[in-house]
Amino acid sequence: MDLGLKNIHVLVTGASGGIGLETVKLYLSLGANVTAHYNSNSKPIQTLQSMFDALSETPFGPVAVIVVNHGIWPSQDVPIVDMTIEQWDHTISANLTSSFLVCREFLRHMRAAKESVKDRAAIVLIGSTAGKYGEANHGDYATSKSAMMYGLTTTLKSEIVKIAPRGRVNCIAPGWVPTPMVQEALNDPAVSGPVLAATPLKKFATPLDVANQIAVLSSSVVSGHVTGQVVFVEGGCVGDL
Ligand SMILES: NC(=O)c1ccc[n+]([C@@H]2O[C@H](COP(=O)([O-])OP(=O)(O)OC[C@H]3O[C@@H](n4cnc5c(N)ncnc54)[C@H](OP(=O)(O)O)[C@@H]3O)[C@@H](O)[C@H]2O)c1
Repeated sequence: MDLGLKNIHVLVTGASGGIGLETVKLYLSLGANVTAHYNSNSKPIQTLQSMFDALSETPFGPVAVIVVNHGIWPSQDVPIVDMTIEQWDHTISANLTSSFLVCREFLRHMRAAKESVKDRAAIVLIGSTAGKYGEANHGDYATSKSAMMYGLTTTLKSEIVKIAPRGRVNCIAPGWVPTPMVQEALNDPAVSGPVLAATPLKKFATPLDVANQIAVLSSSVVSGHVTGQVVFVEGGCVGDL
């Protein structure tokens, strides 16, 4: 099936990570022109804000599709009762505020884009099952993803059409995926055991499982009437046991 992504300029944030890198490889195999963002470790949010100006001047032209994939998962177990305001603010900023800024800059640049670019406009955000079920000892992360899945995605889907009438906004919510973010945690049977027990398919997703759904949702050819949705890539996981 042709997803119609050939020569489409796609920006993937967090492209140096497990899911992001697989997503970049998939888009390249589909003929897309890909800009891959990674974290410079210095003032990442300011970098994100100025990124679109630079990208419009590349031979790829304006970005039509963004995959807002970057994120952090503080690995230490901290219940909300013991969480510092610094940890809370840092996670919300790295996951949620930065995603707001990427989407805002994308939309601002979309205003001036040609109709052919607007027709393909798509945002795919990366949430998490934690945003649906919560995640004990990781409330900062779970909250950042809930807001992305149920506040940001659903609001943006109604706003993007004022700029790009066929523009779409969706969210992929993976369950646990073995990547650098969580590999160490998953090596602990006390973590992986209950997750698999609550997962009918009895396996973890691969980064490609997630990337495939990202590509499909970003395609205006096969998903042109799909917007405002959260698609779970979770093997049927029903939450924590
Ligand atoms: N793995 C899972 O089990 C799982 C489950 C559900 C949802 N997710 C979500 O999937 C997305 C990708 O996760 P992953 O597992 O592929 O993680 P990963 O391998 O740790 O990659 C994370 C990516 O985000 C970038 N990043 C980290 N901090 C950043 C910051 N402050 N500003 C900008 N970019 C930053 C990293 O860049 P550098 O490497 O250059 O620092 C890296 O490219 C995340 O949004 C995550 O929450 C993952």
